[in-house]
Amino acid sequence: MKIVIITGGSRGLGASTAIECARSGMGVIVTYNDNPGKADEVVGAVVAGGGTAAALKLDVGDTGLFPAFRDAVVAQLTAWGRLDFDYLVNNAGYGLFNPIAKVTEAQFDGLLNVHLKGPFFLTQTLLPLIADGGQIINITSATTRVATAGVAPYAAFKGGLEVLTRYMAKEFGERGIRANSIAPGAIRTELGGGLNGEFEVMLAGQTALGRVGEPEEIGSVVASLLSTGNRWINAQNIEVAGGYII
Ligand SMILES: NC(=O)c1ccc[n+]([C@@H]2O[C@H](COP(=O)([O-])OP(=O)(O)OC[C@H]3O[C@@H](n4cnc5c(N)ncnc54)[C@H](OP(=O)(O)O)[C@@H]3O)[C@@H](O)[C@H]2O)c1
Repeated sequence: MKIVIITGGSRGLGASTAIECARSGMGVIVTYNDNPGKADEVVGAVVAGGGTAAALKLDVGDTGLFPAFRDAVVAQLTAWGRLDFDYLVNNAGYGLFNPIAKVTEAQFDGLLNVHLKGPFFLTQTLLPLIADGGQIINITSATTRVATAGVAPYAAFKGGLEVLTRYMAKEFGERGIRANSIAPGAIRTELGGGLNGEFEVMLAGQTALGRVGEPEEIGSVVASLLSTGNRWINAQNIEVAGGYII
C-alpha cells in the first residue's frame, strides 16, 4: 500500500484529496491545525470506505514543531508496518485579502511561514522518510499567473513554491522522487472566508467553463498525478482551473 501525507487534510481541497487518494488504494495521513474534529471526519470517511487513514496535528507555520511531527509520522508508519512513506502533498494554507498598501509585517510573515517556509522545511524534515520513487505535490494557485488585487503576498509565496517545486525535482531526481505543483483556480472551499454570491458570479464569469470548481475536481487530479501512469510528469506546474482568464 502506498502512503500519502496531506497537510491541511481536515477540510477543503486536502480533505477531498485524502478521500480520492484512499479511493485509489493509498493509506492516508492527514494533518490538521485548528479542526481535529474535521480531520476525524475525514479519517472516519476513509475507514468507512474500507481504507486506511490517520490524523496528526501540525501547524505548518511553526518549523519548531517539525521534529516532533516527524516522530509522530514514524510512530504511525511503524503501526502500519512501514519505515517510510511515498507521497507528500504540501496543501495547508489560508487566504487573506488586503491590498499591498495595507499589508502588515505580521500578515506578510504569517503567509510566508505557511505557504513557503513551511513546505520548504517540512519537506526537508520528512525527506529521509520519503521512499525512493516517491513524489511531492505542492498546491499553489492560479493567482501566480493572473494578478488578483488583494492577495499579493499569498500569490508571491505561491509563486515561490512553484519555483521551489522545480528545485525539488532537480535535487531529488537522483532518488527517483518527482516534484510537481498543482495550481487550482477558484474552488468552492472555506478559503479566505469562502465564496459569497457576487464573488462567485464574478469568478464563474472569468472561467471558460462558466462556474467555479468543486474540491473533488482538485482531489481527483492529485490522486491521478500520484498514480504510476503519470510517472513521467515531473517538475511541472499544472493549473487546474476550468480555463480561468484565458
Ligand atoms: N479554494 C481555492 O479556491 C484555492 C485556490 C488556489 C489555491 N488554493 C490552495 O489550496 C490549499 C487548500 O485550501 P482550501 O481551499 O482547501 O482551504 P480551506 O478549506 O480553508 O482548508 C485549509 C486547510 O489548511 C489547514 N491549515 C490552515 N492553516 C494551517 C496551518 N497554519 N498549519 C496547518 N494547517 C493549516 C486547515 O486546517 P484546520 O482546519 O485544521 O485548521 C485546513 O485543513 C491552500 O494552500 C490554498 O492556498 C485554494
